[in-house]
Amino acid sequence: MAAAAALVVDAEYLKEIEKALRDLRALISNKKCAPIMLRLAWHDAGTYDAKTKTGGPNGSIRNKEEYMHAANTGLKIAIDLCEEVKAKHPRVTYADLYQLAGVVAVEVTGGPTINFKPGRKDSKVSPNEGRLPDAKQGPAHLRDVFYRMGLSDKDIVALSGAHTLGKAHPERSGFDEKPWTKDPFKFDNSYFLELLKGDSEGLLKLPTDKALLHDPNFRNYVELYAKDEDVFFKDYAESHKKLSELGFTPQ
Ligand code: HEM
Repeated sequence: MAAAAALVVDAEYLKEIEKALRDLRALISNKKCAPIMLRLAWHDAGTYDAKTKTGGPNGSIRNKEEYMHAANTGLKIAIDLCEEVKAKHPRVTYADLYQLAGVVAVEVTGGPTINFKPGRKDSKVSPNEGRLPDAKQGPAHLRDVFYRMGLSDKDIVALSGAHTLGKAHPERSGFDEKPWTKDPFKFDNSYFLELLKGDSEGLLKLPTDKALLHDPNFRNYVELYAKDEDVFFKDYAESHKKLSELGFTPQ
C-alpha cells in the first residue's frame, strides 16, 4: 500500500487550527460538553500499540466500525459536535480536531494548558475492538494497556485524574450515573482527594480508580497529586501531551 501523503503544516493550516481552536472554545463552553470531548480525544488516542505502530490519535474513531465498539458507546455525540467545527475548517484533520478538542476541554474547565502540535494524519483503518481499558479490572490490566501504548505508571495515575471531569452514564457504560467529584465541570485535583477519602454517597469510583490505591507505586502518585495540585497539573499536561502524540512526530 502506498504511504499516505504527508500532511503539510503550512501557514494556512496553522491559521485554520487557530480558528478551530476558537470555535472549539465557544462550542465546549456553550454546550458544556468538556467531559465527553476529553473522552473522545482519549479514546481516539488510547488504541495505540507501540509495537505495531497501529491505532493512536488518527481520527479513526469517526469510522462507524470503531465508534460502535462497546467502549465507545455515546461518543458519537462528541463526533457529531466536532463535525460542526470540521465543516467550517475542512483542512483540519479529524485527528488534529479531536486532540485539539481534548486540549480545549481541559483548558476551559480550569485545567493546565497542554502544548498542542498539529499535523496528525487521518486513518480509515480502525484497530480491533478491545484495546481500551476495562473499568472492572485491576492494576495489572491497567499496566498491560498503558504500557502497550508506551506510557508509564506516572502517566496512568496522572491521566486517570481526567475523571475530575464528567460522570458515568448507565446507558453507555453500565455504571451508575454519578460523577467522581463534586464539581464535574471543574478540572482540579479533587479526583485524588475523593479517591483517598474512600467511598462517599453520590460519588463514583470504578474498580480501575480504586486500583490506583491498592498498588503501592500508583498510590505514591495519588498521594502526591492529592497534596499538590501544581505537581498534578504539570504531570497531567505532560502525560496528556504524550497521549495526544502517540505514534506522531510533530514537524
Ligand atoms: C468516563 C473508564 C481513563 C476521561 C469514563 C467512564 C468509564 C471510564 C467507564 C464512564 C463512561 C460513561 O458512562 O459515559 C476509564 C478507564 C480508564 C479511564 C477504565 C483507565 C484508566 C481515562 C483517561 C481519560 C478519561 C486516561 C482522559 C485523559 C474520561 C472522562 C469521562 C470518562 C472525561 C467522563 C465522560 C462524560 O462525562 O461523558 N471513563 N477511563 N478516562 N473518562 Fe475514563
